[in-house]
Amino acid sequence: MITNGKDRTLAERVRESAVFLYGKGVLKPEIGIILGSGLNDFADRIKDPLIISYNDVPNMEAGLVSDHRGQIVYGRYKGKRVIIMAGRFHYYENRDMDKTVFPARVMVALGVKRFIITNAAGCVNTAWNAGDLMLISDHINLSGNNPLIGRNLDEFGPRFPDMTYTYNKELREKLKDAAAEEGIELREGVYAMFTGPSFETPAEIRFARTIGADAVGMSTVPEAIIANHAGREVIGVSFLSNMAAGVLDKPLTGEEVTEAALRIKDIFARVVDLAIEI
Ligand code: HPA
Repeated sequence: MITNGKDRTLAERVRESAVFLYGKGVLKPEIGIILGSGLNDFADRIKDPLIISYNDVPNMEAGLVSDHRGQIVYGRYKGKRVIIMAGRFHYYENRDMDKTVFPARVMVALGVKRFIITNAAGCVNTAWNAGDLMLISDHINLSGNNPLIGRNLDEFGPRFPDMTYTYNKELREKLKDAAAEEGIELREGVYAMFTGPSFETPAEIRFARTIGADAVGMSTVPEAIIANHAGREVIGVSFLSNMAAGVLDKPLTGEEVTEAALRIKDIFARVVDLAIEI
């Protein structure tokens, strides 16, 4: 019997959502894509998609999505079964890691083998430029939280998962080579997650640079931890929408991030295509 969400364990809620989606026709997705701010248009590339609103999925709190979409898009694309989360749950929306990573957990339960996790990020590395794309080689979790805190879901993965190889190196090499063949240069570097929603201060950006970050953002790390916990492949792609705070002597706005994302839409999509194909 299905009872009130709060009474059931997290594992049960994840399973219930996955079973619901399976019943709707989301069958054995191989690739799971989480789209970052301003990058949701990628979902329109799936032909004849099955589109399910977060609102209709049990246990998904659609109201928490910062983006207007809040949709699961499923279909065949580039010869693979692909599930896309268009509209992400950010930690800053609810201060609740379980909610933030719920879609990623459902994707794990549905059997997704490869996660392609994308975001818009601030560029910390002063040798690079706004507009560049960066493959995430590693991350620094400055959120002060971890989505695995709490009772471990043993059926998903171990209590103390290794994080040494979170962002699959072989896939990064392949993706860089494939992109280079098409004249697309991919940076590669470390992503640091701040919670947001305020942008960082210039001092925080200097700190991030000192501890080895090349980019900063407000997402991705929680989902990457969940995917890695379950032993799934992770490819992280950051769109460096702006130079991080204080690098240039000007303020940052959320609008500039979304506008910049629109400008690189096609190259971003091509990189995600390649991340599916390799
Ligand atoms: N900081 C944090 N998150 C971001 C930024 C930034 O500068 N740009 C886009 N997302």
